[in-house]
Amino acid sequence: MTEFSISKGSKGGHPLEVSTPCGASLESILCTEELRRRPLRPAEFDKENSALVSLASALADSPGTILQTLADKVLEVLQADSAGLSLLTKDEKRFYWAAIAGAWAPHIGGGTQRAFGPCGDVLDRNIPLLFTHWERRYPYLGTAVPLAEEGLLVPFYVNGKAVGTIWAIAHDKRRQFDTEDLRLLESMGRFASAAYQAVESIENLKFEIAQREKAETALLGLNNDLEARVRVRTEELEERNAAARQATASLQAAFQQIEVLKDQLYKENIALREEIDQTSMFEEIIGTAHPLKEVLARVSKVAPTDSIVLITGETGTGKELIARALHKRSGRASRVFVSVNCAGIPPALVASELFGHEKGSFTGALQRRIGRFELAEGGTIFLDEVGELQAETQIALLRVLQEREFERVGGAQPLPADVRLIAATNRDLKAAIAEGSFRSDLFYRLNVFPIEMPSLRARKDDIPLLAEYFIHRYAGKMGKRFSSISKESLEMLQSYTWPGNIRQLQNVIERSVIICETGTLTIDESWVAGKALENSNSIQPLPQKLAEDEKSRIEAALAEARGRVSGPSGAAVKLGMPASTLESKIRALKINKHSFKAAA
Ligand SMILES: Nc1ncnc2c1ncn2[C@@H]1O[C@H](COP(=O)(O)OP(=O)(O)OP(=O)(O)O)[C@@H](O)[C@H]1O
Ligand SMILES: [Mg+2]
Repeated sequence: MTEFSISKGSKGGHPLEVSTPCGASLESILCTEELRRRPLRPAEFDKENSALVSLASALADSPGTILQTLADKVLEVLQADSAGLSLLTKDEKRFYWAAIAGAWAPHIGGGTQRAFGPCGDVLDRNIPLLFTHWERRYPYLGTAVPLAEEGLLVPFYVNGKAVGTIWAIAHDKRRQFDTEDLRLLESMGRFASAAYQAVESIENLKFEIAQREKAETALLGLNNDLEARVRVRTEELEERNAAARQATASLQAAFQQIEVLKDQLYKENIALREEIDQTSMFEEIIGTAHPLKEVLARVSKVAPTDSIVLITGETGTGKELIARALHKRSGRASRVFVSVNCAGIPPALVASELFGHEKGSFTGALQRRIGRFELAEGGTIFLDEVGELQAETQIALLRVLQEREFERVGGAQPLPADVRLIAATNRDLKAAIAEGSFRSDLFYRLNVFPIEMPSLRARKDDIPLLAEYFIHRYAGKMGKRFSSISKESLEMLQSYTWPGNIRQLQNVIERSVIICETGTLTIDESWVAGKALENSNSIQPLPQKLAEDEKSRIEAALAEARGRVSGPSGAAVKLGMPASTLESKIRALKINKHSFKAAA
């Protein structure tokens, strides 16, 4: 037996070529010559065509059966006993019988080794081969019954690569394949290859589409998931935003509440302070001397009205006491009495202190603050040391008195001023007008109802009464008892000039009560040393004279205190007046306090 092969060139009816013999087993292979020698049967083109049409319609109807259709049609057209198709497995180590028609149909799914079998030989050589009794060369084929008399194989290509074989088998000598069979096998093989390729690309395409659809579904799922998460997150954020807005609103409400409470607390605080002051201050107005009686008569006349009262008089004569008495006897008695020491506030802050300020109206105005006028709403405002007001504030005060309304510093809204005004000063305001430091129009506005406080010198008859009153008061506070005051001490008190007036007398008595341990109170002579009280008739009530007197008293005290104003040994204590009052007097009387330091 000789192996024969047909070159690729044989496709399309080229002559068969002799192949290289392949050893001892080649006797099982028919040679080319023999195939060619065989009588050539006439071509049956209509059968061939109908086979190709079948393949084409199989492709259109059910592409999955293309290989089986090929097997069926090869069987039919070649008039073989069995026909089929072997394909390489993925690892290319074996062939499996993918489609079989005819006698070998039950062997479908069986297979052969890639390296050792007729299909392998065909693929190795990449040519068609005709075998006879191949079981002699490949013994495992001896089990495939019925045995094959002849087998004709051609390579099966997919995308130009041989991936299997198409074969036709004759199980007896009745049928002998010839070159027409080979041509038919190759022709159908080519068609099937193209069809298979198409199916495969369709399958690949389908797979790709399925993959893409899967990916799209996954993407859609992810998208939906993302959208759902975004929705949930947005809702969460909106909820949080709403909560934050609510929190801000309640915070603002709380702040407003705090602001209101702060104002209220501030008012209450001031009112409380006033009350404390009042309890310590609003003691009886002691005295029976004529000048005081006259003052009190005027007080009871003007108190019930809402008129402005201007109280003048030396320091410590009881100007504030009278102001409080006016308030107490007025229709505003149940409301607040607000006292402002105009000399005690730095000039830059006076306006803000009196009228309040809006937040941010000047550097340091961190909060809105209500002023003394607002605080005194419905009550009485007492402007002490009104003569010390700066020109700018005098104008602002004048506006309040004219228009009965005011504005906070930095504010645009006028606020009504339902306030009764009482002013006090120990300055000679007429002299201040003359020297240009006080506005005359303001003076006339303030001087509606003047009350001039008499000095203690002018009411020396009241000294024993006042002394007794203060002894009783301080002794009671300190838990001491005094049956009387020594005659000498009383005489000393009556003959002293009392530049600090009743406040000074009050201080001297308080000091004596502290120090004195006997039942009879005595006064230390040094505390009331100085100018003896002259005959009260010789005292000139003229303002000029008062100013001169006051100036010399202050100068004497400053000299004694070596220029020191405040502190225990300062001039203010000696004169029995607050340090701030003394400072303003020093300024007003143009005293050079430093010269006393140099003199010391
Ligand atoms: N007639 C009086 N009876 C009892 N105490 C009085 C009398 N007059 C004044 N005082 C007391 O003397 C002290 C000083 O009084 P007040 O402060 O009213 O004087 P002032 O004229 O306002 O003084 P300054 O000008 O220094 O402000 C207070 O403690 C007050 O209670
Ligand atoms: Mg006063």
